[in-house]
Amino acid sequence: MSTYRVLITGEDIQKKVSEIAGKISTDYRDRHPILIGVLKGSFVFMADLVRKLSIPVEIDFVQLASYEAGRETSGCVRLVRKLETPVKGRHVLVIEDIVDSGLTLSFLLDYLGRQQPASLKVCAMFDKPSRRNIDVPVDYVGFTVPDEFFVGYGLDFNQQFRCLPDLCILEEQN
Ligand code: IMP
Ligand code: MG
Repeated sequence: MSTYRVLITGEDIQKKVSEIAGKISTDYRDRHPILIGVLKGSFVFMADLVRKLSIPVEIDFVQLASYEAGRETSGCVRLVRKLETPVKGRHVLVIEDIVDSGLTLSFLLDYLGRQQPASLKVCAMFDKPSRRNIDVPVDYVGFTVPDEFFVGYGLDFNQQFRCLPDLCILEEQN
């Protein structure tokens, strides 16, 4: 049995998504950006965010793996699903669920940067800065969160709990 408790309610998350969507709509007006979601965790945030934008955008996804199972990063990132859309000369905005050590993002920014986008920025719903191993720029942040293991709003523990509407702290698993 796993137990979890709510840290940020779905309602507060939705307010924050609206706020971020407003900023992005202003900053990227007339730029026709491409939003690149990092699977699997970002699928919920991506779906909520794009429906609150007031500008046209394109969407693509990449899938990276660093967590093999459980709670700790393996320290090794690999590309599981490549990008389909050419991003050379495009305004690219990476959509992440949570930034933890920064390893995944650093790998992805390097991969995308080599394809010469016109601009490259990052939007993450949650940020755990106390866990950072690599310095990575996060341009839009929803919530700064403490050093805990979270589930819900797209985040999983062994593929469970992604569909919870709230951000929850995973308390124990047996
Ligand atoms: P990083 O490479 O250590 O920054 O980890 C990034 C990825 O690990 C995130 O995109 C998540 O998919 C996953 N992750 C990091 N922290 C958590 C957490 O608290 N719960 C669930 N997944 C997490
Ligand atoms: Mg992720």
